[in-house]
Amino acid sequence: MKGVMLVGGFGTRMRPLTITTPKPMLPLVNVPFLEVELLHLRRYGVDEVILSTGYMPAVFDAYFGDGSRIDMRLTHITEEEPLGTCGAVKNVAELLGEEPVIVCNGDILTDLDIGALIEYHREKGAAVTITLTPVEDPTAYGLVPLDDDGRIKEFLEKPSWDQVVTDLINAGTYVIDPRVFRQVPPDTNYSFERELFPDLLSQGEPLFGFPSDCYWLDLGTPAKYLAAHHDILEGRIDVSLRGEEIARRVFAGNDVQIDDSARLYGPLLIGDGASIGAGASVGRLTCLGDRVKVGAGAHVEGAVILDGTELGEGCVVEQSIIGRNTVLGPEVHVAEGSVLGDNIEAGGGNEFRRGIRVWPSTSIEAGKIKF
Ligand code: GTP
Repeated sequence: MKGVMLVGGFGTRMRPLTITTPKPMLPLVNVPFLEVELLHLRRYGVDEVILSTGYMPAVFDAYFGDGSRIDMRLTHITEEEPLGTCGAVKNVAELLGEEPVIVCNGDILTDLDIGALIEYHREKGAAVTITLTPVEDPTAYGLVPLDDDGRIKEFLEKPSWDQVVTDLINAGTYVIDPRVFRQVPPDTNYSFERELFPDLLSQGEPLFGFPSDCYWLDLGTPAKYLAAHHDILEGRIDVSLRGEEIARRVFAGNDVQIDDSARLYGPLLIGDGASIGAGASVGRLTCLGDRVKVGAGAHVEGAVILDGTELGEGCVVEQSIIGRNTVLGPEVHVAEGSVLGDNIEAGGGNEFRRGIRVWPSTSIEAGKIKF
C-alpha cells in the first residue's frame, strides 16, 4: 500500500531546535522521529511512501535517500511554497494510483493499528476515513461527531462547552480514495481540515471516523517532545531502544564510558560513544544522544540531550532539551522546560530556567544569564 507523509512544515513551535533540523528529523530516543513513523507504517505493509517536503528537504534526502536503508521505497517531492495539508497531497496525486492511500501528518507518535484502519475503510466503502482520538479538553480542537455506523455527521471547530457532543478529534492519519483529489485546485494552499473534508461532507460523500484509544501524541511543542521521550522510556508506547540493557532499564549504545562512581537511575537511554564522569548522576527519563559528555558531578534528569553536547562539571539539567554540539561550562543549570539550540557555548554558572529558549550558535559569557 502507498502512503504520503506530510513533512513540509516549518515547525515554528519547536524552535530553536527546528532552526537547524526539520521537526520530523529531530531524534526521538536517538533515531530520527520520521524513521520511527515510517517503520510503524512498514509493519502494516505500507512500504511505498511519498515524503512531501518543503522546509530543509536536503536533510530528509541525505538521511533516507530512496529508502533502501529502511527497506522501503521513498519518493521525495518538494513544494516551492507551502501548499497546506491537502494541497501537499494534491501536489503528488499523480503518483498515488487508484487505490486508497494512507496520509499521515509527520509529527504524530502513535501505535495505531493501521491494518484495522485500512480494513475498516474498505468495509465501510468510505471515500475518506479519519482516525479520531479522545481528548480531555475538546474545546481546544475541532470535534468530529459520528452517527451509530461511524459516519461523520459534522465538523465542529473549537466548540464552546455547551456544543461539546463528543471528545473525539481528528488525529491526523487518514485513508483516502485518491479520486477525491480531482476536485482540489492544483498549486493552491488547501487544507484537509478546513476545506476538503467539510466540502466532501456537504456533497454527501461517505466520510467515516475511526475512533481509537491507542497511544497518540503530536510532537508539536518542546513539552510534548519531552513527554514523548518519557512515555517511550516508561513503556507507554512500544518503540525499540537502540542499545543494550546494561542495568535495570538502563539502555546504552556502543563504546560508552561510565565512571565507576557515577550513578544511573533507569529508565534511561545513553547513545553511542557517550561518557559519564566521576560522581555524576543520570536520573530517570533521560535520553543522552551519541557522544554526549556528562562532566564530573553533573546531574541530569528527565532531559533530552542531543548528539555531541558536553556538560561541564557540576552542571544540572532537568526536564529540558539541549540541541547538538552545545558546550556548557561548569555549574550551568538548565531546568523547567528550557530549550537550548545547537552549537551554543555557554560559560560557567549560567542559569536557564522557566522555559527559556536559546537560539543556535549563541555564545554566552560565564555567569551572564540568571533566568
Ligand atoms: P508549527 O509551525 O509549529 O505549527 O509546526 P508545523 O509546521 O509542523 O505545522 P503542523 O504541526 O500544523 O503540521 C502538521 C504536519 O503537517 C507536520 O508534519 C508538517 O511538517 C506537515 N505540514 C504542515 N503544513 C504543510 C505544508 O504546507 N506542506 C507539507 N508538505 N507539509 C506540511
